[in-house]
Amino acid sequence: MSTKSEIYADLHKQIASVIAGETSQTARYASAACLLRDAFGERFFWTGFYVVDPLKPEELVVGPYQGTLGCLRIPFGRGVCGAAAASGETQLVADVHAFPGHIACDSRSNSEIVVPVFGADGKLAAVLDVDSTEFSAFDTEDQAGLEAICRDLLSV
Ligand code: SME
Repeated sequence: MSTKSEIYADLHKQIASVIAGETSQTARYASAACLLRDAFGERFFWTGFYVVDPLKPEELVVGPYQGTLGCLRIPFGRGVCGAAAASGETQLVADVHAFPGHIACDSRSNSEIVVPVFGADGKLAAVLDVDSTEFSAFDTEDQAGLEAICRDLLSV
């Protein structure tokens, strides 16, 4: 049985190889969301992307995802995704109910990790949001694995 860091290392290679040469950013995000959810199953209850709206640069709009219905729009600074977008830093949240301004798209979500995705220009392009029905489902190994994957999403 593989360790979590081995699973992330394999996933990183697999996602990079699937998206290599693909010019549609939607196709790249959709493939990554699918492979992440497939690798981790129910622990990744909601897995997907909120992208920066080019017409409203301080607002995220839902992108490709796997899971139950997500909120359509999130302003920068609001909830966990908005905090990741505003700060440009990963948010690792053990109990979303204790997070100020948390947006409960699905009341079954109890913990969450949100990782920023940057373009080659260094600007925020999107955030990867993963929610779990378990409390404290994510740790620094998830953070390292997801950050490595997100680093490639606009460049491979
Ligand atoms: N929980 C998120 C909102 C997005 S959904 O859970 C899909 C947040 O507070 O940022």
